[in-house]
Amino acid sequence: MSAAALITIREVTKRYPGVVALDAVSLDIREGECHSIVGENGAGKSTLMKILSGVITDYEGELELRGENVRFSGTRAAEEAGISIIHQELNLVEELSAAANIFLGREKVRGPGLLDDAAMEKAAGELLESLECNVDPRERAGALRVGDQQLIEIAKALSLDTGILIMDEPTSALTESEVARLYRVIERLREQNVTILYISHKMGEIFRISDRITVLRDGQLVETLDREATDPRRVTHLMVGREIETTSFEEPRRPTGEILRVDQLSLPWPGHAKEWRLRDISFSLQGGEILGIAGLMGAGRTELMECLFGASEVPYQGEVTLDGEKVRFRHPAEAKSAGVALVTEDRKRLGLFSQMSVGNNITICTLDELVSMPLRQIDRSKETAAARESIGQLAIKTSGPEAQVTSLSGGNQQKTIIARWLRTDPKVLLLDDPTRGVDVGAKAELYRLMDSLCRDGLGILLTSSELPELLTVCDRIIVFCEGRLTGEFTREEATEEKLMEAATQIE
Ligand SMILES: Nc1ncnc2c1ncn2[C@@H]1O[C@H](COP(=O)(O)OP(=O)(O)OP(=O)(O)O)[C@@H](O)[C@H]1O
Ligand SMILES: [Mg+2]
Repeated sequence: MSAAALITIREVTKRYPGVVALDAVSLDIREGECHSIVGENGAGKSTLMKILSGVITDYEGELELRGENVRFSGTRAAEEAGISIIHQELNLVEELSAAANIFLGREKVRGPGLLDDAAMEKAAGELLESLECNVDPRERAGALRVGDQQLIEIAKALSLDTGILIMDEPTSALTESEVARLYRVIERLREQNVTILYISHKMGEIFRISDRITVLRDGQLVETLDREATDPRRVTHLMVGREIETTSFEEPRRPTGEILRVDQLSLPWPGHAKEWRLRDISFSLQGGEILGIAGLMGAGRTELMECLFGASEVPYQGEVTLDGEKVRFRHPAEAKSAGVALVTEDRKRLGLFSQMSVGNNITICTLDELVSMPLRQIDRSKETAAARESIGQLAIKTSGPEAQVTSLSGGNQQKTIIARWLRTDPKVLLLDDPTRGVDVGAKAELYRLMDSLCRDGLGILLTSSELPELLTVCDRIIVFCEGRLTGEFTREEATEEKLMEAATQIE
């Protein structure tokens, strides 16, 4: 099967100090196809997409669009040529409304200098509705959850009349039902002959929507495959260059007794018709156990973790017992010193210190251990050693502790935050969708790490946007639906169907 190339990428190379992010990559993209780009964290996927969409303008090699040489001076130029991108790290202006974000730089006006807010809100409302998203277009973008923000990014790209749509991990923060919704949108776009370039770490997704799949490894193109002629195992193998052991934990973990108990926890929802964000939540977590929380977006999983970490904006009702003692944290610092750690779903807003180095990001919560005595100063060599240890333990791909954290690929930023909290040596580890954007190999590493931490007596509370992940690693799974606990299953009992059923059980 041969079709005319819509885009020809010829010998494209991108260098950063100390890293070759892309190394002479050549590739054809065909008109109307859905082409997935896969590879480990740091393989160069986002870099290639940023070059195609005019975000990166300084590179070696050539691009052709419909046989004509092009070199975009910026994203506007790429958009004019019909290429738009949904970024992996969401790019919204937090202070502006959802609608204003969607039309940023292309505002609708009523006259010179007069914004037509009503028209933008109406159009934004329609776009969001087509995504089956019920966010109010007037809502401030910064007040929305990551999953909704992701939908706003998608709406923004759709508002441009695009011939080529690049989606860089569009589903990483979406739950299964939202992903299904996105598939419907992609289906519609394909009917309109939109060419789609798609990045994801989820093999199921890749095999469901792609016509062709290109594998990158260490900045080089390994192979482009027809979806029909390959399978997930082969693609994974090409990505990592070795077999990945499928993780299964045959040897049962040995719970060491209750470490965390939550009794009748309720979280008010001021100014909201539903009154309660969380209602009457009770459960118990043992040391040495991984307890999963399943639920759709908005079910209240993140809010529960925020309550347990002293980070909820509104005080909760009910009781929390940690290691036999009643606790009520008013601030994350209190939670941290009591032995509770949280890895959040939203690394950009709550997790990363983007001005700092990788090393500082790793050690920021444990600096007191790195103070050398007489002068009470931070011992920089100890700090570097600690950072190096974590970089090795989690296989964070970076030139070293001194590198700026923003120079890391998305998945490696996530690993940096996990590393930080593991260093605090917690009793209870709250993991809110920790493998979002993490590649298959690194996921397997992370599962093994979680397992071994549990065997040392740590208790883990885990949410995930992927049910198979919960089914792989958890000993028990509880299910939330609209702020209530609607199901509890042991690993043996749990199936995707049962979890979905409990997650959508509306009273
Ligand atoms: N601004 C930058 N400065 C320095 N190095 C960078 C910069 N941006 C990317 N890199 C490096 O380039 C390489 C490729 O990064 P890229 O973001 O393209 O990876 P990716 O395949 O998208 O990974 P992920 O799956 O984690 O998102 C990585 O080693 C990364 O650290
Ligand atoms: Mg990326």
